[in-house]
Amino acid sequence: MRLEGRVAVVTGGGRGIGAAYCKALAEEGAAVMVADIDGTGAAEVAREITASGKRAASCTVDVSSKQSTSAMAQAAVDAFGGIDILVNNAAMYANLTRKGFEDISIDEFDRVMAVNVKGIWLCTMAVAPSMRQRGGGRIVNIGSGSVFVGGNGLVHYVASKMGVIGLTRALARELGGDKICVNTLIPGLTDSSSNRANTTTAYLESEAKQRCIEKIQTPEDLVGPLIFLSSDDSHFVSGQNLNCDGGRLFI
Ligand SMILES: NC(=O)c1ccc[n+]([C@@H]2O[C@H](COP(=O)([O-])OP(=O)(O)OC[C@H]3O[C@@H](n4cnc5c(N)ncnc54)[C@H](O)[C@@H]3O)[C@@H](O)[C@H]2O)c1
Repeated sequence: MRLEGRVAVVTGGGRGIGAAYCKALAEEGAAVMVADIDGTGAAEVAREITASGKRAASCTVDVSSKQSTSAMAQAAVDAFGGIDILVNNAAMYANLTRKGFEDISIDEFDRVMAVNVKGIWLCTMAVAPSMRQRGGGRIVNIGSGSVFVGGNGLVHYVASKMGVIGLTRALARELGGDKICVNTLIPGLTDSSSNRANTTTAYLESEAKQRCIEKIQTPEDLVGPLIFLSSDDSHFVSGQNLNCDGGRLFI
């Protein structure tokens, strides 16, 4: 187990790909704070983890709020004694409806930026003191392969995920001196179950056909790279994009 004794905070851990990250981190020995704006979903994921004999707790968080992200970090410190790993997975994604760029409201555009970009900055600020105190850490920001191909009715989302790459690079520079590595994990189109409303089976299958490894991507395909970026194995990797899409894109 590569993460024995570590503490991980996963935002957006209450469903979809985030829930798979929480379970995988716990399997590797980490104590996991499952944080989500959907507190019920987060509590259910934490309950599943503890039922399997691993360590987890949950909290409700809105990553776009400084007060809420500070409370999330404090809850992790109170429950497990500190924070070593932050997975910035929460995003406005599956709940978005694909539409032309002229049909997106200003409020919706602003909310996507507040959650997907500002949220990562706020969560990083919230956990950095504990990581510094513990002598280092790992921050994994979740990007999206959509930035390499352009939007598909989600221009605000694509712009926000390019912002994630910029944040990763700038934060990696600032936090390197504290032995905190910051990287972006970039999923390809993934059947996360929560995105079925805006992603048809035909769309998932057409993506699969364009991969070197021709299959529909599932959350489990992402956990190996996530564990690598969360562990000591990546101690000399920072500011990078790790693209995991079965070889759909060569970046
Ligand atoms: N599924 C895909 O095809 C795909 C592809 C590339 C990248 N991604 C990224 O992977 C991550 C997970 O995607 P998913 O498919 O599981 O989507 P999802 O929409 O189901 O997951 C997002 C999670 O974030 C939570 N969340 C939303 N707003 C929040 C807020 N303000 N504060 C806290 N939590 C909040 C949601 O409740 C949900 O649990 C996202 O960052 C997404 O952009 C997904």
